[in-house]
Amino acid sequence: MAPTDLDPHVFVIFGATGDLARRKLFPGLFHLWQRDLMPERFRIIGSSRTAPGTEEQFRDMVHHAVEMFRGEIDHEAWRRFAARISFVVASDEDSGELADAVRGAERELGPDTRRLLYMAVPPSATESMVRMLGKFDLNERARLVLEKPFGTDLRSAKRLDATLHEVFDEGQIFRIDHFLGKEAVQNILALRFANGIFEPVWNHQHVCYVEIDVPEEIDIQGRADFMESTGTFRDMIVTHLFQLLGFVALEPPVRLDAESLHDEKTKVFRAIRPLAPDRVVYGQYEGYRDEEGVNKSSEVETFVAMEVFVDDWRWYGIPFYLRTGKAMAESRRTVTLGFQEPPLRMFPGDVDDQCNELVLELTDDPKIFADLRAKIPGPELKLGRGRMKVDLMEAFPGAEPLEAYERLLLDVMRGDPTLFTSTEEVELIWELVDPLLHSPPKPKIYPRRSWGPREALQLPGKYGWRIPDS
Ligand code: BG6
Repeated sequence: MAPTDLDPHVFVIFGATGDLARRKLFPGLFHLWQRDLMPERFRIIGSSRTAPGTEEQFRDMVHHAVEMFRGEIDHEAWRRFAARISFVVASDEDSGELADAVRGAERELGPDTRRLLYMAVPPSATESMVRMLGKFDLNERARLVLEKPFGTDLRSAKRLDATLHEVFDEGQIFRIDHFLGKEAVQNILALRFANGIFEPVWNHQHVCYVEIDVPEEIDIQGRADFMESTGTFRDMIVTHLFQLLGFVALEPPVRLDAESLHDEKTKVFRAIRPLAPDRVVYGQYEGYRDEEGVNKSSEVETFVAMEVFVDDWRWYGIPFYLRTGKAMAESRRTVTLGFQEPPLRMFPGDVDDQCNELVLELTDDPKIFADLRAKIPGPELKLGRGRMKVDLMEAFPGAEPLEAYERLLLDVMRGDPTLFTSTEEVELIWELVDPLLHSPPKPKIYPRRSWGPREALQLPGKYGWRIPDS
């Protein structure tokens, strides 16, 4: 395996037997290794409060997870990868054994070894774990990756931040929002700033609405504890959907580096108008209260739709509609910009009232569409609807995309925080949504496999939701 120029690394995965570690982190590390994108020398230490059996059983669990989420793997490759994996029990009270294991691995790997500490633990456990890292000096030469949500409101986010800064410098902290690792999301920047045709119309003079729509077909899939304590607003809106909004709305950054991007996103979040409670719809899917582990009278939202305005020079007066929910009719991640009509309708029998739309499909197979009116070939001057399309995988057939977590893990190893969230962004968003969190709307019940409650369907008024596509 060709060496890369990355420093040797000890990865410590806290919450190593949990869902995220099994679905994303272990398969991601394995795939990076197969792609020659791991340091030449590394060790992976899984850790959690209780042991999943013997160390061999832990490796089997990881093996199973990698095969399940990355497909079958070659026996010899697995043997070589697995030789670098171990497991150590650790808790917020005692991590002596873990600290010894980390130092042992570092002795083998060499003095320039870095630590990548990944907190795949529930938000309630983060603070005490961070203190423990400080107590056992695990913060030295370390980068810490934190999973969202970062706190549960403004107060707790500030407290978490203060704790983090007792133990780590800001430059060591990587707040992950995996949507920013998606190829298609980074492509928003390419689309806007590497082309001359979009940016001149990317503003309130030409755009009349923006929709950021992330319906999910899956229900809570056994994650009752998580949903009951977090809810969709904290899980998806203040994180993924606001970050997408930031990318769509930001001004051209001076450079494509972390500082410039964070500055521009921060300005967007600072410009968001206080949220109007009557323009936010919470929903809960039918049967949610019957899910195992859910409170029978739960008022937790599994769906949110809302209207947001960015009161800056570029976007003043233009509504952004955000929608996401579980147990919906389809899974999509779609950003749509609707364009204003031409001033004069000069074609007899214009096709319909659907304005031009630029549609960004942020799937693993990213596509961009522009829905346009065009002449139907034939003897009459009649209009129909045509579509311009860019299919990234078709355009670049040999390209090998990285899964979002893989890309972001690699960025942490490289020490590049560009695609991570800054503390200022996090706090501005909490500040904005704080009033809503303290008096949330009552969730309206919606049928499974639907597009959400009626009130949400009506939210964009005459524009309607683009999805389901007409
Ligand atoms: C996670 C949320 O961050 O993102 C989940 O906790 C959600 O509730 C998931 O389903 C969606 O991510 P992706 O990459 O599958 O679209």
